[in-house]
Amino acid sequence: MAAKISPSLMCADFRRLEQTVEAFERAGVEYLHIDIMDGRFVPNFTLGPDFVRTIREMTAIPIDLHLMVERPEDHLHLFPVRGGDIVSVHQEASVHLQRTLQQIKALGARPSVALNPATPIYTIDDVLDDLDVVLVMTVNPGFAGQKLVPATLRKIANMKRHLADMGYGDVEIEVDGNISNENAVKMQAAGADIFVAGTSSIFKKNADLLELTERFRASISSIA
Ligand code: DX5
Ligand code: ZN
Repeated sequence: MAAKISPSLMCADFRRLEQTVEAFERAGVEYLHIDIMDGRFVPNFTLGPDFVRTIREMTAIPIDLHLMVERPEDHLHLFPVRGGDIVSVHQEASVHLQRTLQQIKALGARPSVALNPATPIYTIDDVLDDLDVVLVMTVNPGFAGQKLVPATLRKIANMKRHLADMGYGDVEIEVDGNISNENAVKMQAAGADIFVAGTSSIFKKNADLLELTERFRASISSIA
């Protein structure tokens, strides 16, 4: 399966949002990753429903919504989700996970479960019928610019094998956190399909965003 890129817009220069989105359209990225944080599930706040609406008005690129919030089922209705989007909720944050995934599916979006580094892969075994994507967090969520949790590289490989063993080899694995070009190559070899590109790869000060995105694409296409 060809690697997909999902730039993390919380890392963008908000003074140049329109140019940023145009660069991603030219680069042909498959998703735009939008992190939503509630200050409770993670100790930070970032973007919100109005930001998602603004991006939706700017471009047809599908949204990859990462809800780092307690009880995501209570807030889904606030976001302009539509067919083709990915909506990730944290396994650790949703008591009624199966029902929440059904809610996402009912919106026409691709249901996804995000797992913090310490959360075992088998915790999604009973909702494999209900999801399209598994988001393996490769850092502890909440902030950009953090360092990879090394054990998550093995976790990606274990997840890939486990999904195949369970008969769900078509479920895509998304990775998020310190996805440098070098880390992305290792993660792809381990089985990752969708790469959240942030400050470790494409959002660098005084650098050409389109060029860095194309360079990132070249890194993860070389072993495809
Ligand atoms: C962290 C967010 C990530 C973050 C990635 O909690 O989920 O999407 O923006 O940023 P980098 O690539 O800098 O780790
Ligand atoms: Zn994220």
